[in-house]
Amino acid sequence: MRKLVIALAALFTLGLLAFAMPQEQQKGGPWKISAEYKNKKNPHTVNADLLKIGKDVYAKHCRSCHGNTGKGDGPKARNLKTHPGDFSDAKWQGSVTDGEVYYMSIIGRDEMPNYETKITDEEERWAVVAYIRSLKQ
Ligand code: HEC
Repeated sequence: MRKLVIALAALFTLGLLAFAMPQEQQKGGPWKISAEYKNKKNPHTVNADLLKIGKDVYAKHCRSCHGNTGKGDGPKARNLKTHPGDFSDAKWQGSVTDGEVYYMSIIGRDEMPNYETKITDEEERWAVVAYIRSLKQ
């Protein structure tokens, strides 16, 4: 009887632990982005003014998931099944065009929200792309 109680208690503790542990986040698969977006060029000069606009957009819409430095560790990221990615990663930065970053940022997919109606100003859209670029380490 005693052994049974211990075994049950152990099972219960394990169950609780499994419940309390955050779920392992998956990295999203490769994005399918049309050439139309891939080849889009930022029509704005990247300077301090544009980066300031981008930083404000990022703080308002993106930081909650992507985190202060873009590592994907914002407070809302915890509840996501997909890891938001790491903007500080030079390898990732080198593997995507500005047009692709624009597509991922504004069109999105699955847990990455669509911002077409929330960020309507083209300059603000490109500003946040430029700001993401500035997070590279
Ligand atoms: C609700 C949380 C959330 C918010 C808010 C959010 N994102 Fe994301 N973002 C994600 C997730 C999750 C992914 C990964 C999606 C996938 O791979 O399917 C992602 C992916 C991305 C990627 C691609 C990263 C990579 O490694 O491929 C970019 C770029 C991006 N987001 C930009 C933005 C921008 C810009 C904003 C603000 C305008 C923003 N995100 C707001 C959750 C969020």
